[in-house]
Amino acid sequence: MHKRPPAAILSHMNPHVQVFDDADTLADHAVRRIVEVMQASLAARGRCTLCLAGGTTPAKTYARLPSAGEAVGLDWSAVYFFFGDERLVPPTDPWSNYELAQQSFLARLAAMPMNVFPMPTGLDSPQRCAEAYEETLSRFFAAPRGGPPPRFDLVLLGLGDDGHTASLFPGAAALDESQHWVVATPPGRLPPQVDRLTLTFPVLNAARQVMFLVAGANKAPALRDALRGDDFHRVPAAGVRPAEGQLVWLADRAAAGLVEHAPSEHS
Ligand code: 6PG
Repeated sequence: MHKRPPAAILSHMNPHVQVFDDADTLADHAVRRIVEVMQASLAARGRCTLCLAGGTTPAKTYARLPSAGEAVGLDWSAVYFFFGDERLVPPTDPWSNYELAQQSFLARLAAMPMNVFPMPTGLDSPQRCAEAYEETLSRFFAAPRGGPPPRFDLVLLGLGDDGHTASLFPGAAALDESQHWVVATPPGRLPPQVDRLTLTFPVLNAARQVMFLVAGANKAPALRDALRGDDFHRVPAAGVRPAEGQLVWLADRAAAGLVEHAPSEHS
């Protein structure tokens, strides 16, 4: 029996998997779902806290966000953007997850700077950067550090073909972090080979909803292993099991090629 990921339950419910013909129909559905979650959060709590995924897969979904929000008259001033992980590079670096989000949609939203909380990458050490972001979360959510983790309305995540998510890489010490909400971690196998900052399982598993966006045949083995509930030390994405939240996997057909009986969805 694998050691339990911090703050996760080992519910054996089969995570909700939706399969789409291709990356574009996946993005069409993902953006609709994200806007629905934002509307529900605004109605219930007067704000929406959205944690963004890095990497390249979300770009199609991000690009659709401004017009999808505009179509429903979304009040962007009550939406707050955070990051699930960051590469320790300058915020204008093409490898920066913040830069990806800025270019994909934040700049187009003219999102007020006070609504966007990038992970700091320029302090005097990766550990200081992690502490600073944890302090940012503590203040925004009025959650004392060392206490229960902040609860995001929605966390978007990608999946690496090595099974990592955010910057929780196979075999990393960060996988067993049960107290800190943000840690610095060395690079994994995949580029860029730079130190990272990442949210930890306690925060990811406290979310009201976690949505994975997975596209491409190279992700098929990792998606199969993650859905099968493999050891999260080998397949970190398998450790994302929100204790009291919804877990949704959105995949294109290429990525879902090894997932038995994945329902086919047409957006
Ligand atoms: C990162 C990302 C990472 C990403 C996966 C998938 O900073 O590297 O947060 O977790 O989601 O590596 O990346 P692609 O979407 O580019 O395949």
